[in-house]
Amino acid sequence: RLPRQVRLVEMGPRDGLQNETHPLAVVDKVRLIERLADTGLKHIESGSFVSPEWVPQMADSADVLRQINRRPGVIYSALTPNMRGFEDAVAAGADEVAVFAAASETFSRRNINCSIQESLDRFRPVLEAARKQKIRVRGYVSTVVGCPYEGRVPPDAVARVAAALHEMGCYEISLGDTLGVGTPLSVKGMLHAVSEKVPVEALAVHFHDTYGQAIANIYAALEEGVSVIDSSVAGLGGCPYAPGAAGNVATEDVLYLLQGLGIRTDVDLKAMAKVGTAICERLERHNRSKVGLALQAR
Ligand code: HMG
Ligand code: MG
Repeated sequence: RLPRQVRLVEMGPRDGLQNETHPLAVVDKVRLIERLADTGLKHIESGSFVSPEWVPQMADSADVLRQINRRPGVIYSALTPNMRGFEDAVAAGADEVAVFAAASETFSRRNINCSIQESLDRFRPVLEAARKQKIRVRGYVSTVVGCPYEGRVPPDAVARVAAALHEMGCYEISLGDTLGVGTPLSVKGMLHAVSEKVPVEALAVHFHDTYGQAIANIYAALEEGVSVIDSSVAGLGGCPYAPGAAGNVATEDVLYLLQGLGIRTDVDLKAMAKVGTAICERLERHNRSKVGLALQAR
């Protein structure tokens, strides 16, 4: 009943680094992305074309994208909140872009300074331009279980935003538990509501591991037929506009789970753990992957 194969979308260089306080030079970001591609990953979110005032950590994304030594078959994508971001991302060589909305009004305002409806209206021209240039667009929905400002988020609200993004042309909708407050029951309830409006083949899950539930939530999502998982090497990061939220679920931990379940990813766990060790040393931070720590890979 579980999927035979899972596609991982690596968040470390974007969701991970956008929330790290330790500055990282362009060359180190480029090296991280190249090493991640060497593990077998096929999709790496490599930067973000947002306001540098809002997220200074991503201000050098154009340089990063330009300097990557690209591996054939790997998608190097970027976040784009509006037309300006889209144009800059494409000019810098992003293979794919992602727009990002939220299921809660307050988070939408705090994160992108507009209402949910305004954000969807802003994405429409991005999707239109992307379609003409044959660039695929992924859509994120944040706060799919809970919101730092509003508390519990109703599954219907998530389904509405996910359906709007899908109808607009996003090929995949990544459902983000931004705060990391979900448990398998709340996640399944949310997935049931969303999959009534968007086919499960077009859904991805994006868990932050604040309460240590991410691996359990991923198992729950696999049981519901989801086969695309966002994760971040060494569990880097968090979200600057979600106070208290931890980083994404660690890619190493997800790989260990999937390996144990006999689910194929084509990504090398040992190599991933080495990348995790190296980036933590560079950032002078604790490795948040339990599997990474257990393997002590160098
Ligand atoms: P705003 O202030 O409402 O926008 O911000 P504006 O259009 O009035 O522009 C204000 C200034 O920003 C102007 O500069 C623009 O030129 C500039 P000024 O004239 O004042 O010097 N600007 C830009 N600069 C560079 N690139 C751009 C761009 N657009 C405008 N694309 C805006 C609206 C969306 C820009 C702002 O709120 C913003 O940048 N927000 C980004 C927040 C962010 O990146 N959050 C983290 C990513 S989302 C996330 O992590 C969640 C996710 O992981 C899933 C999950 O876990 O839930 C995806
Ligand atoms: Mg996130």
